[in-house]
Amino acid sequence: MDTNLARAAAPEPEEDFAASLIAGLSRQPKQLACKFFYDAEGSHLFDAICAMPEYYQTRTELALLVRHAGEIARLIGPDIEIVEFGAGALTKIRILLDALERPAAYSPLDISGDYLGQVVRALAGDYPALTLRPIVADFTQPLAIPALAGAPRRAGFFPGSTIGNFRPDAAAALLRRMRATLNGGGLLIGVDLVKDPRRLHAAYNDSAGITEAFNKNLLVRANRDLGADFEPDGFAHYAPYNSAAHRIEMYLVSLKRQSVHVAGRRFDFAPGEPVHTEDSHKYTIEAFRELAAHAGFRPRAVWTDPERLFSLHWLES
Ligand code: AVI
Repeated sequence: MDTNLARAAAPEPEEDFAASLIAGLSRQPKQLACKFFYDAEGSHLFDAICAMPEYYQTRTELALLVRHAGEIARLIGPDIEIVEFGAGALTKIRILLDALERPAAYSPLDISGDYLGQVVRALAGDYPALTLRPIVADFTQPLAIPALAGAPRRAGFFPGSTIGNFRPDAAAALLRRMRATLNGGGLLIGVDLVKDPRRLHAAYNDSAGITEAFNKNLLVRANRDLGADFEPDGFAHYAPYNSAAHRIEMYLVSLKRQSVHVAGRRFDFAPGEPVHTEDSHKYTIEAFRELAAHAGFRPRAVWTDPERLFSLHWLES
């Protein structure tokens, strides 16, 4: 088993976070990049979000994977290297690996080396014949992965509707880069669907306040990792559905006039001033297939649940 962590050229995470935070707070309107949600505490909060009754996405996607695993495995084919963009919860990749015929390798890409280490340790014992090749990389950046011995064909896996966290033009550019990384292989991707706005609103404004804690964790993280002096309770979680743009927009809204210091810089906030922290786009099946085609893929099979809450797409290169 090859469990050595390959590290793609990328800035150190703290450096990247500091630079991004300072640039985002210097803009008007202010913004913070959602990829920084996922430190250890943020990942833990995200796991809690996935288990909430209001957040239908995770359980619906899992049910689709289980239900259609056989057909998915037939479409992907045998002896494949699975490249997962952002190592997520192990449950999903296990369903796929268990259904595939003689999977050759699993190459998860993630910015957290610690998390990748946990993933490969958890899988190694259960899949002794599988080559495990964790790669520390920011999958939003262009990336060429060297071929493994025997050069197995590749298939990509990008579940969880993370594609929705990119604006449509950035999503198309990302899909195009993934297609290049996959070197002729297809992509299995999960995409959240347009639906009743009340259901969407509830999923991002849960009654237990977990999404609020997840959103504010950006400030907690900045305080801890960068020595910033945010007062998390001085900001409110605000997550409306923008129906014209088909997306949930997430903000932290300043509850008062206040100043915050980050790395020797001062940032002033007016009462009611929003800091944009995330977009979560929702697609119709047709709109997503169009986007994928625009990125150079050939959309093939698509699976959805009876309520049409979520979709899983198999895109060929
Ligand atoms: C990771 N991503 C698909 C989640 C979403 O639904 O957009 C992140 C999230 N933000 C708030 N709740 C969940």
